[in-house]
Amino acid sequence: MSPPVLSCRSLHCRAGAREVVRDLSLDVAAGERVALMGPSGSGKTTLITTLAGLTPPAAGRVLVNGVPLDEQPSLRRETALVFQSYGLLPVLTAAENVEVALRAAGRTPREAHALAAEALNQMRLAAYAEHLIEELSGGQQQRVAVARALALRPAVLLADEPTAEQDKVNRLLVLDALLGTSAALIVATHDPEVAARCDQIIELGTAVTRT
Ligand SMILES: Nc1ncnc2c1ncn2[C@@H]1O[C@H](COP(=O)(O)OP(=O)(O)OP(=O)(O)O)[C@@H](O)[C@H]1O
Ligand SMILES: [Mg+2]
Repeated sequence: MSPPVLSCRSLHCRAGAREVVRDLSLDVAAGERVALMGPSGSGKTTLITTLAGLTPPAAGRVLVNGVPLDEQPSLRRETALVFQSYGLLPVLTAAENVEVALRAAGRTPREAHALAAEALNQMRLAAYAEHLIEELSGGQQQRVAVARALALRPAVLLADEPTAEQDKVNRLLVLDALLGTSAALIVATHDPEVAARCDQIIELGTAVTRT
């Protein structure tokens, strides 16, 4: 069996006073897909941002390729995140949003341009590449966020309800693209069809209030 790319050990996450993740241990190998489910407010986004290294855990560790996150200087080159609220820069174009992430990850301008164009094309957004984010619909913006994550070709891909704003056709497009990568994928979703296509399901919702 291939070694895990993303792992967590005895992970606890708190949101305010609530412990939303308690004692989670998990290994995700390259190409493996994990669905993160649970009702609204159950802690899916909190867990995703903790796995991305953006939110410190209350306890426990997250490791990428066996190295704890807080000892990873090149974390941003290995992990990509599709934010639930997209996290795009509204004053830049779709292409610029993707290119900025690629440049920050060390790609040359030429590479960034080519990879951004490819990923936007994959998300059926070629015609919108030069449009400002604020000129795009919610679904289109979400696909730019997916394109940005895919273009990075990350080892770990974390996607927070990435199909929530999509119509039927684009939902499948996004899903096929995410599930088709060789990344260790964790996808937060309310969609049972997404979960059915994953290898593992983590169900949150047994949140514990700290006393
Ligand atoms: N910064 C914060 N401070 C305090 N409480 C927070 C904070 N962020 C989130 N919460 C609370 O933590 C809980 C978990 O939130 P989270 O966003 O992780 O849920 P979720 O499962 O992603 O929900 P949804 O399906 O609606 O996206 C919620 O009750 C929320 O109100
Ligand atoms: Mg959420």
